[in-house]
Amino acid sequence: GEAAPQCPMHGVARSLLGRTNRDWWPDALPVDMLHQHGVSPDPMGEEYDYAEAFKALDYNALKADLTALMTDSKSWWPADYGHYGPFMIRMAWHAAGTYRVTDGRGGAGSGQQRFEPLNSWPDNGNLDKARRLLWPIKRKYGKHISWADLFILAGNVAIESMGGPVFGFGGGRKDVFQSEGDTFWGTEELWVDQGVKTRIIPEEELELEGPLAAIQMGLIYVNPEGPGGNPDPLASARDMKATFLRMAMNSEETVALTAGGHAFGKAHGAKPGETFGKSPASEALQMQGLGWLTDSDEIGKGHITTSGIEGAWSNNPTKWSGDYFRLLFKYDYELVKSPAGAQQWQPVNAAPEDMAPDARDPSKRVPTMMTTADMALKMDPEFRAISERFHADQSALDDAFARAWFKLTHRDMGPKIRYLGPEVPEETLIWQDPVPAGTAPSDGDVAAFKSAVLASGLSIGQLVKTAWASASTYRKSDHRGGANGARIALAPQKDWAINEPAELAKVLAKLNELRGGMSLADAIVLAGSAAIEKAAKDGGYAVDVPFTGGRGDATQDWTDVDSFVWMEPQADGFRNYLKTSQTVKTEELLLDKASLLGLSGPEMTVLVGGLRVLGVNHGDIADGVLTTRKGALTNDFFVNLLDNEVFWKLVDTSSDQQFIGHDRSNAGEKWRATRTDLVFGSNSQLRATAEVYAETGNEEKFVKDFVKAWVKVMNADRFDVTSKPVTS
Ligand code: HEM
Repeated sequence: GEAAPQCPMHGVARSLLGRTNRDWWPDALPVDMLHQHGVSPDPMGEEYDYAEAFKALDYNALKADLTALMTDSKSWWPADYGHYGPFMIRMAWHAAGTYRVTDGRGGAGSGQQRFEPLNSWPDNGNLDKARRLLWPIKRKYGKHISWADLFILAGNVAIESMGGPVFGFGGGRKDVFQSEGDTFWGTEELWVDQGVKTRIIPEEELELEGPLAAIQMGLIYVNPEGPGGNPDPLASARDMKATFLRMAMNSEETVALTAGGHAFGKAHGAKPGETFGKSPASEALQMQGLGWLTDSDEIGKGHITTSGIEGAWSNNPTKWSGDYFRLLFKYDYELVKSPAGAQQWQPVNAAPEDMAPDARDPSKRVPTMMTTADMALKMDPEFRAISERFHADQSALDDAFARAWFKLTHRDMGPKIRYLGPEVPEETLIWQDPVPAGTAPSDGDVAAFKSAVLASGLSIGQLVKTAWASASTYRKSDHRGGANGARIALAPQKDWAINEPAELAKVLAKLNELRGGMSLADAIVLAGSAAIEKAAKDGGYAVDVPFTGGRGDATQDWTDVDSFVWMEPQADGFRNYLKTSQTVKTEELLLDKASLLGLSGPEMTVLVGGLRVLGVNHGDIADGVLTTRKGALTNDFFVNLLDNEVFWKLVDTSSDQQFIGHDRSNAGEKWRATRTDLVFGSNSQLRATAEVYAETGNEEKFVKDFVKAWVKVMNADRFDVTSKPVTS
């Protein structure tokens, strides 16, 4: 066979899960071995309701304490300019900035910066100290404020305390107590170099991978010195646009955020990079989870190296102002090296009053700087037009920065109804995917609609498929999607190939005709429920499918088409659909979808088995429909999949997607299936679950479990009716 490629950047098989903390820190204590078989790592227990605890928070006292913290400099990590504000803003920005719109994962929602890999991420250098500075406040307010909320609130208070504009704050980010193992961070074996990023990386290795929104493992976004360390502002602009777009930020928001953020604080590259210690996860036990430390004498002198770049952007680094743009446009900038050796840009012949104060000694003035990424705001034509506008109109920058910061820090919280606290902005924003409140139909209307729909000529498969298509867009990562709003009837969802647009239009037209005053969103779900009740009865078991009405219908005007485009499923194993072949295995895509829906293994299994026999396959293909009673809710999928009298073969060796099940007695074709079907027989863990649903005596359990999992998906986005767990 062929020799395995040796290059570390290319030698790793692409897998959905990418590389894990065990790859990076093989010696780390495997605490999560204690959290198997449904055991939770969360010490707060199930009875803890964060939303309730937050309501009892003395919000103003907390904000006052945070404000006081900003200027309470500690000798073990002195505040630059006597103000921790800029440091806290960077911490909050990096907490939120891992969000990516493709799968909704990352983001500030669960306080992941506390855990590997993010707490040791090179780009998060020294943010461990920012979090430690917050600890006395976290301790004081305890269960009433999560770390995740505290990170963002500290960022807001920092901006306010330096005179910057803030749009609002919504609490409700519930902490988790382990690293999120389902977040793919990439397959790279080498992270961006800590400190000075001198390793120039070839262009072809800088392609954005999978769903990622960072150019390189270890970065939040782009390399500040330019792509792969190449100080080219135009190339940096290209990378900034690509990465920020993956966070649903357009160019105006990107400019406002970067320029607004860099109105504050400084970069740290006062000493050569070798002078600091290891990352938190690699440090010695006695360092107690702190990393990147130099000796305290050096820290006291301000000899700190974080990014390797050195200096402030503005002459007023602890005050909100337009000085960033004023300096950017007033001066020519020349490429220089920081004391740590990083490439950065310095104003030519800066006037003394345009110099920055020294971080430790305000009587000294030192040169300001720009990173290559900042220079992109001046050199790239599109960015420049925006920068010039903000330069000329401070109030436009104020408004754009405040709004973009709010979006950045709240993007993964889902609907506005999930926001808590006295500073939730009244204004509704389109990226919140607003859905008007609905009214639940009466019991009489529910019953009448159900019989009408079953008599309408629409098939069980059509009704179940439409409800599934509507609800299954939900993702727990950022709480977007779901059946509420009936956005399946709006662009872009109504036109997605997976939704079989022509077929969908027919079903929706019929439901619209029958629904009377009921919302379309409720009608879609109720029609699916009615179909399942009928199918269960036809299979021999009468069940009720619980229905919770009250969904509203969204409007096209309040649907951000560009940001919904990202949510188009590339695969949906539940409908046996694969848009185009992928580098990851199709069954991994099923697992990913199940994970985003918040399903357990048994829930995923029972749903796939049930949906196959109900006939919801995309394009009504026969694959996986392992029954002769299509449309009846039976466990036939599992019984026939595990039948010893059938053997399976690839249809065609040029593709590994489709299989034929042959009858052992005569070798004739009996069934067809895809990878997402056969994985329930081939994977030992899924097979064990499939066996349960195939066993004699479990037929009714199958139906009940299916209904339970189905209802969970239908109601996944009903933050209006249930007190949902607020984890992301
Ligand atoms: C600091 C790069 C966007 C806020 C820094 C540092 C670098 C950097 C290299 C210095 C870190 C250190 O050595 O201490 C970038 C790049 C960006 C970007 C390349 C995007 C292309 C943003 C955004 C914000 C922000 C969007 C917030 C809205 C800050 C703040 C600091 C900082 C406040 C100062 C921290 C301190 O004084 O300790 N950034 N940044 N940055 N960044 Fe950014």
